[in-house]
Amino acid sequence: MNNYINNNKDRFINELLDMLRIPSVSADPMFKNDVLRTAEFVKERLEEAGADKVELCETAGYPIVYGEKMVDPSLPTVLVYGHYDVQPADPYELWTSPPFEPVIKDGKIYARGACDDKGQMYMHVKAFETMVQTGNLTCNVKFMIEGEEEVGSSNLGRFVKENRDKLSADVILISDTGMLGNDTPSITTGLRGLSYVEVEVTGPNRDLHSGLYGGAVANPINILCQMIASLHDENNHITIPGFYDNVQELSQEERAEMARAPFSLEKYKKALDLEDVHGEAGYVTMERNSIRPTLDVNGIWGGYTGEGAKTVIPSKAYAKISMRLVPNQSSGEITEKFRRHFESIAPKSVKVVVKPHHGGEPVVTPTDSVAYQAASRAYEETFGVKPVPVRSGGSIPIVAMFKSELGLDSVLMGFGLDSDAIHSPNEHFGVFNYMKGIETIPLFYKHFAAMQQAHR
Ligand code: BES
Ligand code: MN
Ligand code: MN
Repeated sequence: MNNYINNNKDRFINELLDMLRIPSVSADPMFKNDVLRTAEFVKERLEEAGADKVELCETAGYPIVYGEKMVDPSLPTVLVYGHYDVQPADPYELWTSPPFEPVIKDGKIYARGACDDKGQMYMHVKAFETMVQTGNLTCNVKFMIEGEEEVGSSNLGRFVKENRDKLSADVILISDTGMLGNDTPSITTGLRGLSYVEVEVTGPNRDLHSGLYGGAVANPINILCQMIASLHDENNHITIPGFYDNVQELSQEERAEMARAPFSLEKYKKALDLEDVHGEAGYVTMERNSIRPTLDVNGIWGGYTGEGAKTVIPSKAYAKISMRLVPNQSSGEITEKFRRHFESIAPKSVKVVVKPHHGGEPVVTPTDSVAYQAASRAYEETFGVKPVPVRSGGSIPIVAMFKSELGLDSVLMGFGLDSDAIHSPNEHFGVFNYMKGIETIPLFYKHFAAMQQAHR
């Protein structure tokens, strides 16, 4: 297989670059045609790679690309999930090369979606082609590639519920996460959940002269800032009543185990140009960004932000706030607790509206499963070291649904790096990582098939 991969390396890269040229931004309706074109692109590449029954499954939003190759009903079935949509590329001026004109610099592919998730998703298509072409496909394969992950997968849940038979499988395989480093591979064993809300604070019924009225009526921006500031106490604990009620605390043993994963606080601070880190008292950085829940303002606006000065007390102020959740918090409950608390702390001088956006449930995947062991062996073969299990702070809401609706565990075989700048300007993905993924994935199939057989 390695010969086939090496002989086709340039083509594998060029096909990815072609897909990266299509700006499939799911959040912005301006890109609707491009998102649809990307779905077509993925469909055609899956067909060429050897998948049967490839189709675009229509939803209320963007289509899901489905394809399969059933080689033998007695073999295990792997369901591959990924997404072809990307985050908006703004702010464009911070990119050193245009986000949808991919370039390779210093061995890295620069483009929006290079890592999240076009690059990582396409590794599976090319790994599949390699297995088909070299006669090494040891499992049945199903592909389910969606176009709405970056906007909360709101139609995928329904698709999963309505297509339980079509999606029946033994395991779900996903590359949409990262690893610790190119010489310290890791397998993601947990994802945080998400509650996302938008708040609107209204003061007076119109914008006012800040001299004539200033000091006598509530300024909704001042009030919003006070309300937001009060959501953390001096230890950086979140003050929403009941917020931590169901949080699963890790045992000292589990925390000690976590602390064994290689991590340098000095390098971490240096990479971000920080004098110091910040977070919940009693927890270290690696815990704060994985096993602990958070609350962050993602955006805040209101009043006058144009050139020069305008003396005004605005009528309204807004913020977008996200909460990352851990087992066993529930996004519905947390959103409700947030709403109740936020409304209760508002002074009478303003009105507050809390609007829930998307949510998702946290998940932890087993490390004692056949699938995890197969993935571990695959990485060990290509990287020369055993991968470490790491819980990630990011969210892929559909993973919890795969468990609750299909009863299936996911294996999160990520090949990205935290430094790949996903969702940021200058997102990139190492050619090394792309090729390593294409090399490692077929070994997962090999070990999974063999170990499943032995297990029966
Ligand atoms: N692939 C990411 C999630 C991710 C990245 C998990 C790196 C672990 C490591 C995914 O595309 C993403 O961005 N998810 C969103 C949530 C979604 C509901 C918009 C997130 O985590 O903010
Ligand atoms: Mn992703
Ligand atoms: Mn993303």
